[in-house]
Amino acid sequence: MKATIRAYKDSDYEAVKQTLKECNHYNPDLDTKQKLHKKIVADPESILVAEIDGTVIGNVYFIDDSWNPTVWRLAVRSEYRKKGVGETLVKEVEKILKKRGRDEIRLFTGIHKVENIKYYQRLGYTALPTVQQVMQKRL
Ligand SMILES: CC(C)(COP(=O)(O)OP(=O)(O)OC[C@H]1O[C@@H](n2cnc3c(N)ncnc32)[C@H](O)[C@@H]1OP(=O)(O)O)[C@@H](O)C(=O)NCCC(=O)NCCS
Repeated sequence: MKATIRAYKDSDYEAVKQTLKECNHYNPDLDTKQKLHKKIVADPESILVAEIDGTVIGNVYFIDDSWNPTVWRLAVRSEYRKKGVGETLVKEVEKILKKRGRDEIRLFTGIHKVENIKYYQRLGYTALPTVQQVMQKRL
């Protein structure tokens, strides 16, 4: 079973929400249907989904910016893991950003998430020496 990677559509929302919830990556402020809609209107490729037999089982977002392109929300449903879907999603983001002329990419993962750090190292990412606290303010 090979996953097809394609751009997210509004009709994928419930599947993406379910995947994010299962992976503890769902943020009720950020991952609303409206916000994802606005995101793809601004940049249609910026949310990708992985589909197997017509079912959306994984996703990744990116924020493209000429200063600092970043990857977010990489998540694959647990029963479809270890088949290369996560890697394929990350590689697709890299391909899109490279085509856009970007030469660097960053992502954030928990400082204590050793498995994830090793995973990204295997995909060619380097861990930078930083400890950060996320801050937020309503505008
Ligand atoms: C990390 C994740 C996206 C990998 O997806 P995937 O489709 O299984 O990835 P791949 O098939 O490309 O690679 C699988 C490898 O990653 C390893 N891995 C890394 N992090 C893992 C995790 N949190 N859970 C399970 N496996 C993980 C597996 O052990 C496996 O190694 P192996 O090939 O030596 O057996 C998936 O495990 C996931 O959704 N995890 C929860 C969400 C998450 O932590 N996302 C990263 C956010 S920073």
